[in-house]
Amino acid sequence: MDGGATVNDDELIAAAREAAATAYAPYSDYPVGAALRFADGAIITGTNIENASYGLSLCAETVAVAKALAEGRRGGLERLAVTGPKGKGGDAPITPCGRCRQVLNEIAQLGGTDPAILCVGAHEVMELRLSDLLPHGFGPAHLD
Ligand code: THU
Repeated sequence: MDGGATVNDDELIAAAREAAATAYAPYSDYPVGAALRFADGAIITGTNIENASYGLSLCAETVAVAKALAEGRRGGLERLAVTGPKGKGGDAPITPCGRCRQVLNEIAQLGGTDPAILCVGAHEVMELRLSDLLPHGFGPAHLD
């Protein structure tokens, strides 16, 4: 999705769910979707990509950030939604893993934003800030 009208939260969550449909998660059977919304309205999605060498697997958020950086984006991340499979984990909202918090912090700090994260569960959506999940994060500014 490129630019145009700003999508609302339901659409952002739908984009994350749609991304999860192409998850490559044969080992965990835990498909995850992430959808990042940028200041110009662009939506960039990612899904988890596992590997037979389990530890090499990539999370949905990390894939989405890598796609954004590969497209030349260096900030502007305003909002993102993360979805997990229904019926797992007691239907609790999924929260980004520690590594993904750090990966998200890179593109967030580059653009000086503190993106809102919609952690989607079966019955509720928990909205948090990246700074709630990763307080005092180490980022590119530390290397200046
Ligand atoms: N996973 C994500 O994609 N994002 C997260 O924030 C948490 C975990 C993936 C990794 C693995 O493929 C599967 O979910 C089970 O851990």
